[in-house]
Amino acid sequence: MKRAIYPGSFDPVTNGHLDVVERARKLFDEVIVAVAHNDEKLPMFSLEERLELLNQTAGKIDNVRVTQFDGLLIEFARNEKASAVIRGLRAVSDFEFEFQMALMNRKLESSVETIFLMPKEEYTYLSSRLVKEIARLGGDVSKFVPAIVTTALGKKFKR
Ligand code: PNS
Repeated sequence: MKRAIYPGSFDPVTNGHLDVVERARKLFDEVIVAVAHNDEKLPMFSLEERLELLNQTAGKIDNVRVTQFDGLLIEFARNEKASAVIRGLRAVSDFEFEFQMALMNRKLESSVETIFLMPKEEYTYLSSRLVKEIARLGGDVSKFVPAIVTTALGKKFKR
């Protein structure tokens, strides 16, 4: 059983994240989409909201499971008997942080590989941060996120 963890804040999930999930699930028997508690990042959506949005999207895809984790990612990967961590790589600007995290995780647990997947080109500019900013300023985000997320953002920014 080849299992991978796809960790992140998912605040909120975007079409770019779902594109990475689709790619990962073709490479592994099971992909666990794992929402980090990440309270220090002050997420806009609560953990429960982020999980619900993921359950209604990624959670509907075959061989994909949605869950949460607290503490060290590598500890969670060990507990789940996962052999890989999946991260999406959009642009060179992602590289430095991702490289540092991958190598640090390898130091902590050498048996877990980090695998970088590139989303479809049209998603390389897409981020949860920008989606939230566009929604906050009244822009249309429906091309960037699943419909359920557009609705959730609409509720957050009700004027
Ligand atoms: O979507 P994000 O915010 O880029 O995801 C970052 C995430 C959650 C993958 C990262 O912050 C993480 O792994 N947090 C868990 C704590 C941990 O293991 N930290 C050490 C990383 S070397």
